[in-house]
Amino acid sequence: MARSTKKAAPTIQRPPAEILHALELQKLQERDGKDPRPANWVLTPRSILDFILGNTALGIEPKFVGSRNSIERCIVSLATNRGLMLIGEPGTAKSYLSELLAAGICGDSTLTIQGSAGTTEDTMKYSWNYALLLAEGASDRSLVPAPLHRGMVAGKIVRFEEITRCPLEIQDTMLSILSDRVMAIPELPDEGRNLYAQMGFNVIATANSRDRGVNEMSAALKRRFNFETIVPINNLPRELELVQRQTDALLAQSNIPISLQPELTELLVTTFHELRTGKTTDGKSLEPLTTVMSTAEAVSVGHAAGIHGFYYNDGQVAAQHLVQSLLGSAIKDSQDDVKKLGHYFDRVVKDKPGEHWQQYYAARKYL
Ligand SMILES: Nc1ncnc2c1ncn2[C@@H]1O[C@H](COP(=O)(O)OP(=O)(O)O)[C@@H](O)[C@H]1O
Ligand SMILES: [Mg+2]
Repeated sequence: MARSTKKAAPTIQRPPAEILHALELQKLQERDGKDPRPANWVLTPRSILDFILGNTALGIEPKFVGSRNSIERCIVSLATNRGLMLIGEPGTAKSYLSELLAAGICGDSTLTIQGSAGTTEDTMKYSWNYALLLAEGASDRSLVPAPLHRGMVAGKIVRFEEITRCPLEIQDTMLSILSDRVMAIPELPDEGRNLYAQMGFNVIATANSRDRGVNEMSAALKRRFNFETIVPINNLPRELELVQRQTDALLAQSNIPISLQPELTELLVTTFHELRTGKTTDGKSLEPLTTVMSTAEAVSVGHAAGIHGFYYNDGQVAAQHLVQSLLGSAIKDSQDDVKKLGHYFDRVVKDKPGEHWQQYYAARKYL
C-alpha cells in the first residue's frame, strides 16, 4: 500500500480556491507585475489560464482538465460586457471551473447565488436589517447587501449556480443588471437609488443541460450571456490522472494516510469511462445507464472506497470496496442501472486481462 506524505489536517472542510491556492495566486500576481489586463482584474488573462490548466515550469498545479481554447473563450467572455454561461451534464466541473475563474479574476469565489425554486430577489440583490430600518429608515447602514450588490460595488465576479432552476421572473432580474450594469434600489434616497457596477463586475452562471431549463430561458437573457458547453473528459489517461490526484487529495483531507493504488484507479475510471461512453476500450457497445457516470462521481467513489478499506480492512483498499461504493455513491436508487452494471461485469469485466480485473469480477457479488 502506497503511503502518501502526511499533511496537517486542515480545519476548514472545503477552503475556497483562493485560499487553497493562495501561494499560486501570489506567485502569478508577482509574475504579472504591471502587465496590461482588464480593469480591476487581479491577474492577467495569461496567468488565469495558467492558474486553471497548470504550468509545470512555474510550479502551478493543473486543476481543470479541458481544452485550452474553451478556457480561453471563457476568460475572454468575462472581459466583455456579457456574462458567461457554462452549460453541460452534471459532474463535468462547471461549478469548479466557475470557482477557479472567479478566484483567478478577482481573488474571490465566494460571491455565489445558489439558484433554486426558492431563490428570491432578496437573496440575490439586497435585504434589510429591520431593526435599523425601523430606527433610521432606509440607508446604506440598514441595507444588507447580497452577492450581486457586493460584486457590483467591489467590481468582482458573481457566480450564479444552476440559474435555470430559478423561476423565470427571477432569472429575468438579471436583465438590466447585465445590460445596463445598474441595480435600482428604489427604497434609498435619491442619490443612492441607482447602484452602478464598478469595472471588473461580471457574472458566471452555470446550468445543467439535463434540466429542461436552458430551453425555457428567455431569449433576452440568453442574449446577455456567451455560452460555453463543458463536456465530460474524453481522454482516459487524463481522466485517470485527475481522479488519482483528486481522490488522494480528499483522502489526505480525511486523515487517511494512504493513496488509492493505481490499479484500483484504473478499474474505477475505466468502468466510469466505458459506461458513460457506452463503449468498451476494445470496441464492444454497452447499454447506457440512466445514472450520469461523471468524473465527479468517480472521485467520490474512490474517496469512499479508500475510507472503507482503511478502516474496515486493515488499511487495505480492495476491488470489493470500489464495487460497494459504486452502488451508494454513483448508482444510488436505480434498480435498472444496478442490473445493467451486473451485465457490464458479466460481459466486459470478466474478459479483461490482469489479476486486479479478476478480483474486481469476483467482487460483483456485492452488487
Ligand atoms: N474536466 C474536469 N476537470 C477537473 N475536475 C473535474 C472535471 N470533470 C469532473 N471533475 C470533477 O468534478 C468535480 C466538480 O464537479 P462540479 O463542479 O460540482 O460539477 P458540476 O457543477 O458540473 O455538476 C471536481 O472536483 C472533479 O472531481
Ligand atoms: Mg454545479
